[in-house]
Amino acid sequence: MESPDSFRREAHKLVDWIADYYNDIEKYPVKSNSRPGSVFAQIPEDPPAGPESMNEIFSDFEKIIMPGISHWQSPGFFAYFPANSSFPSLLAEFLSTALGAQCMKWETSPAATELEEAVMIWLKKMTGLPDDFEGVIQDTASTSTLCAILSARERISSFNVNNHGMKDQPVMRVYCSSEAHSSVEKAVKIAGIGKENLQRIGLDNEFRMRVDLLEEAIHRDISNGLLPVCVVAALGTTGSTAIDPLHEIADVCSKYGIWLHVDAAFAGSALLLPEFRFMIKGIEKADSMVFNPHKWLFTNFDCSAYFVRDSETLINTFKLIPEYLKTQIPDHVNDYSNWGIQLGRRFRALKLWFVIRSFGVNGLQDLLRKHLAIAAELKTWIENHPDFEILAPVHFNLVCFRLHPAGIDNIDELNNLNEKLLLELNNTGKLYISHTKLNGNYSLRMVTGQTRVEMHHAKNAWDLILEKSKAILS
Ligand SMILES: Cc1ncc(COP(=O)(O)O)c(C=O)c1O
Repeated sequence: MESPDSFRREAHKLVDWIADYYNDIEKYPVKSNSRPGSVFAQIPEDPPAGPESMNEIFSDFEKIIMPGISHWQSPGFFAYFPANSSFPSLLAEFLSTALGAQCMKWETSPAATELEEAVMIWLKKMTGLPDDFEGVIQDTASTSTLCAILSARERISSFNVNNHGMKDQPVMRVYCSSEAHSSVEKAVKIAGIGKENLQRIGLDNEFRMRVDLLEEAIHRDISNGLLPVCVVAALGTTGSTAIDPLHEIADVCSKYGIWLHVDAAFAGSALLLPEFRFMIKGIEKADSMVFNPHKWLFTNFDCSAYFVRDSETLINTFKLIPEYLKTQIPDHVNDYSNWGIQLGRRFRALKLWFVIRSFGVNGLQDLLRKHLAIAAELKTWIENHPDFEILAPVHFNLVCFRLHPAGIDNIDELNNLNEKLLLELNNTGKLYISHTKLNGNYSLRMVTGQTRVEMHHAKNAWDLILEKSKAILS
């Protein structure tokens, strides 16, 4: 298998398999119905002593692995947030894997660094972010948010925590809404700030952070000798895509000199559409912002766009140059390993470049608008049905709803009913939806953000929801 000719033969077969997979993707059960341990049980206890043929390996891939795969690229995938992909992105991933370049420093592959600089400038323009922001690609939003909180910690301690640890520091405080993503809590724990020092701020009736409560919490903390370090504002919360009032939060952060990080992991892609720019009013006062092209911009997982207003603070937080990483290249090039946690870096800019060029900005906007239109239609079907109700405002393409037939008003009963409905729906293999709880109410979540989703997929899903709910209620 090590000769380029045998690789060519096998790769052609694989490409054919992939094209067939995408042709037939709707035939697969969207959510794997694999039982825990069933894949593991089929893998031999010991690795093979000698080589096995690609035919044998591939046949096991089909037999053992495929049944344990949930099909995130299926248009029946409405769960979580999508990790959507596209053919240009896939092709770029082939190339990046083929080159196998490790892009930790400018010198280790100048094109990777310079393309990353260029596509991050493109993304900044495409989303209307301020000119003075600089971007870097991280693996995930969780990592980007961790970078933000570590940078905030270092800025406020004048880099003393990096040097001496937390021992002489006042107790630090971080703030986010009670609907903010769990990655904020993870980051606070990793940063040594402590989970107890993450203040979850209460919400208004649209699940947005209440700025009056934020300011009260900051005020109280300062009076008690605690040190406010960072506020994380969410543009598009995971539960319901609520949009925190950035403009007002930014004013509070400026007033108290607190780092403002904006988590727009999913909904940031909507900034490609001018009609959504209202949500970044105040962004020029933010210190950092993240959104994930790997969620809703047709770019294979993983690809997280992290923007900062002051790259020097980011670099000073992470920069390390041991002898074996010194180069003779002058300082004005970017060594992106100093812009984040990991040293080794994949060549992720390539897939963004392929995607943006292949769709064009207009093509990307059209696809986003199509997804928004499908969600708007789904919302109307739900609103117009007497047995269903919408549970949160639909700002983008996530619809939160539940079955709520007349006569059933007990919250536990409703929650059980909807949990049962979710299970039955996902067991059909025809779609995959997920859930959250909003104000204690079990809510079904459907996101119409899969690259290939069309109106008829949403309609089929809605028909199935009606069929299954009727069966449950009868
Ligand atoms: C608002 C928000 N922030 C952060 C994340 C974490 O994203 P990642 O998987 O890229 O770490 C998610 C994931 O869904 C999210 O919805």
